[in-house]
Amino acid sequence: MWVNPALRHRSNANQLACACKAEERYLSRRSLRDQMRGSRVVATKPSRRTGNAPRRGESLRRQAARKNRAFWEHSAISYERRHAAGLEKHGGMAWGFWRRPENQLQLLGDVRGKRILELGCGAARWSLALARRGAVAIGIDTSREQLGHALRVVGTQRSNLALVRASAEELPFKDATFDIAFCDFGALTFADPDRTIPEASRVLRPRGRLVCAQSSPLRFLFEIENGDRLSSRLQRDYFSLGWLHFPETDERALTYAGWIHLFRESGFVVEDLLETCPGPNDRSPYLDRHGERWARHWPIECLWSLRKDTS
Ligand SMILES: C[S@@+](CC[C@H](N)C(=O)[O-])C[C@H]1O[C@@H](n2cnc3c(N)ncnc32)[C@H](O)[C@@H]1O
Repeated sequence: MWVNPALRHRSNANQLACACKAEERYLSRRSLRDQMRGSRVVATKPSRRTGNAPRRGESLRRQAARKNRAFWEHSAISYERRHAAGLEKHGGMAWGFWRRPENQLQLLGDVRGKRILELGCGAARWSLALARRGAVAIGIDTSREQLGHALRVVGTQRSNLALVRASAEELPFKDATFDIAFCDFGALTFADPDRTIPEASRVLRPRGRLVCAQSSPLRFLFEIENGDRLSSRLQRDYFSLGWLHFPETDERALTYAGWIHLFRESGFVVEDLLETCPGPNDRSPYLDRHGERWARHWPIECLWSLRKDTS
């Protein structure tokens, strides 16, 4: 196994997290109460929502970051209430809208002994499951409320997992720290890909892997702007995809070519792209019946498997 010489003597999640420059870190093997003591994370109290109106002179990226973070601080409790049971299925390791189990898709492969970074971990069920399977896992998220849920989920369990409050647009880790980075509709859905993809590449070792489940460009072409509904008619031009301003979040949509060029410019080769096609009886915890019908006709999500190129 390739080992970054700088980390040879720091092989667990706590040491990796301690070495990073994040403002807030929550390390494994300490009790939840200890972690909460003196920390500025408030796990149970919802934060007050900040205004989403654009500020003068603010870039679209900053505006999106502020709006999206406010959304997650505000909706973490309801998201957790609604999706906790579904996210626990398949041992916490399943992908995307249709919760396709990792043990079927095998996108991450053998994780034992691997240093793994989850980008936008939410309540960190994925990271916890990976740590239990022998990985050294770090989950990052910008939302204190979401990390509060993660602390509760992890509790006092002994695991090789650490949580860090940070944005995927600016990772507080050294170059070539991780073997695998991944994201299941986490940070890469909400942050600016021009920042997150190069950052993911930077912190991966040569031949390291990035796996991400995210919305398909097709979904954005059909998404009705104010209704959170999918139309069967195109809603916008393909070539003018960019920042899309939904009522609660801003998301940056790229074309298929846009993604492939960005991956290549960031030093990745595309190993695979899965477009999930649900069966007639499949149900999605994230879609209503109309959305489920839509997603039987068009791919709603892309599961990208990338490898950091060494040539
Ligand atoms: C839909 S949740 C997904 C989390 C997890 N996969 C799950 O299904 O519970 C999206 C997460 O991404 C986080 N997020 C959004 N933008 C982020 C950013 N720029 N950096 C890190 N995390 C971010 C949010 O705070 C939220 O916890």
